[in-house]
Amino acid sequence: MGTTTPARSRSTCELRASSPCLQPSPPRYSLGQRCRSLYHALWFRLSERMRWSRTPYREVPVGHLADLAPWQTARIESLRVRYGLCFESHYGHHTSLANYAYLDLLDQAWAAADRPVPTGGLVTDVGCANFWYARTLHRFLRPAKLTGVDVEGFRLYPTGYSRYDAAAGYIEDLPQTSFVVADYCGMDEQVDVITAWFPFVTPAPVLAWRLPLTVFSPERLFARITRNLAAQGTLFMVNQGTDEANIAAAYCRQAGLRSQGQWVHPQPLRPRPHPPVASWWTA
Ligand SMILES: C[S@@+](CC[C@H](N)C(=O)[O-])C[C@H]1O[C@@H](n2cnc3c(N)ncnc32)[C@H](O)[C@@H]1O
Repeated sequence: MGTTTPARSRSTCELRASSPCLQPSPPRYSLGQRCRSLYHALWFRLSERMRWSRTPYREVPVGHLADLAPWQTARIESLRVRYGLCFESHYGHHTSLANYAYLDLLDQAWAAADRPVPTGGLVTDVGCANFWYARTLHRFLRPAKLTGVDVEGFRLYPTGYSRYDAAAGYIEDLPQTSFVVADYCGMDEQVDVITAWFPFVTPAPVLAWRLPLTVFSPERLFARITRNLAAQGTLFMVNQGTDEANIAAAYCRQAGLRSQGQWVHPQPLRPRPHPPVASWWTA
């Protein structure tokens, strides 16, 4: 990777299999990006040093989801019946709907791919934020062990609770589930399934998530995923739109992963600017 290519042309190149720039190139940051990165780095380091934590934070359950279109209500009802879950008795409106949306994606993607769901294994979710969707993964994959990993663990929310407190609340009644604050690029743990929902593959979302660009290292991230995936194991990844999915796919291939298929969600339960793209990879 000797030359520098902007992210946009990288994705374009990825569409052509014979393209010489199939390998992602290191990004070049603007002055503005570097300034924002420095600012986020200050807060990031401060929060990691303070490691602010109170008690597990539990959302106030909304009880009933209102203001949904009839097709959303119908889809949620079918997910409720099929998976025996009722997110609104655990979470507020936003988190409940977001969990149904992730469950809907899992349900539809695996059915469309006609793949057996790899239940009962060791599962790691890479870049889980506060692991608000742990219950969805737990129910769908029925893992022997579920670990959510995020490099940022102690972001402070306006509630006075930290990301760590929120994660503790989300996982507290889920057996064999944990939240680990760590850079996944340094983790050594062989597992059967790795899930990655919207991993950073371009720098702009890193800054939008108020993180420093020092955490942006997709080559290392996907190399580590490859290394930690058991033989016959599966990486299930979700990206934002086909452009981002193409960039992510190039990183996967560069890391030695092999594609097992891709599926674009035709009608996400929660509308998004770009359709979620699911893909399956093996080492
Ligand atoms: C776009 S967010 C997605 C969050 C979550 N998966 C979701 O669907 O809501 C990406 C997350 O990856 C985390 N992350 C980025 N690099 C990481 C690394 N090297 N190790 C662990 N987590 C990382 C970030 O802190 C952030 O929470």
